[in-house]
Amino acid sequence: MNVVLFGPPGSGKGTQAQFVVERYCIPQISTGDMLRAAVKAKSPLGNMAKAIMDAGGLVSDEIVLGLVKDRVSQDDCASGFVLDGFPRTISQADSLITLLDGFSKKIDFVISLDVDSQELISRLSGRRTCPVCGKGYHVIYNKPEREGVCDSCGALLVQRDDDTENTVINRLNVYEMQTAALKSYFKDLGILHCVSGSGSISDIQTQISSIIDIGGIGDHS
Ligand code: AP5
Ligand code: MG
Repeated sequence: MNVVLFGPPGSGKGTQAQFVVERYCIPQISTGDMLRAAVKAKSPLGNMAKAIMDAGGLVSDEIVLGLVKDRVSQDDCASGFVLDGFPRTISQADSLITLLDGFSKKIDFVISLDVDSQELISRLSGRRTCPVCGKGYHVIYNKPEREGVCDSCGALLVQRDDDTENTVINRLNVYEMQTAALKSYFKDLGILHCVSGSGSISDIQTQISSIIDIGGIGDHS
């Protein structure tokens, strides 16, 4: 089963991907996480991507597609995966469909998380992430048991470099200009399921599992 979690920055893609991974035992493919790992490793790809990510722009389709191609062809993706943050342009979506076609696979569900922009800004400014295991938190909405410390591995939590005010505003604009149009693209393919991303994290998990288990609940608009 192949799932795409779709939505603007801060809509909860990463948070809900963690749930899908645990419930359905399929790996998460987050292009943002892969790019941040490349930046941290100071690889040539990471050095190229850093300035673009810090400014809130999109890394080239060619680079991200290369990362996704390598990842989906690995053995642990054979029975499915959950994509988080990819595709983000029509061209990436076209390439994904062609790529999956080559493995006789398809996208089964696109789950779109809809959240208004004021809430997105407050979520991103309060987000904290574990630099070791990648688990995500929020200083108000999703607190760790001990302030500033990861529940899973005990590492000190950090704020992402692109969660500064100006970069957040740019990321939201880039989403509207280059990514939002994918909703009608997926709707035309009959695979789009919209859920409100504004409820509690557990309510959204329930809606997502209903969509996947029953294959259809959720606003099909
Ligand atoms: P990426 O890492 O994908 O970032 P993003 O899309 O901007 O999304 P975020 O990770 O910021 O938000 P999220 O939806 O995962 O929300 P989260 O669950 O953390 O990409 C980063 C950059 O990499 C891009 O800007 C671009 O430069 C590059 N890139 C990546 N993919 C690319 C691609 N395909 N093409 C080109 N470039 C690419 O939640 C946010 C916060 O809210 C957390 O604190 C969380 O605890 C909290 N929260 C979550 N759900 C709820 C809830 N229901 N109620 C209250 N709080 C909640
Ligand atoms: Mg994320």
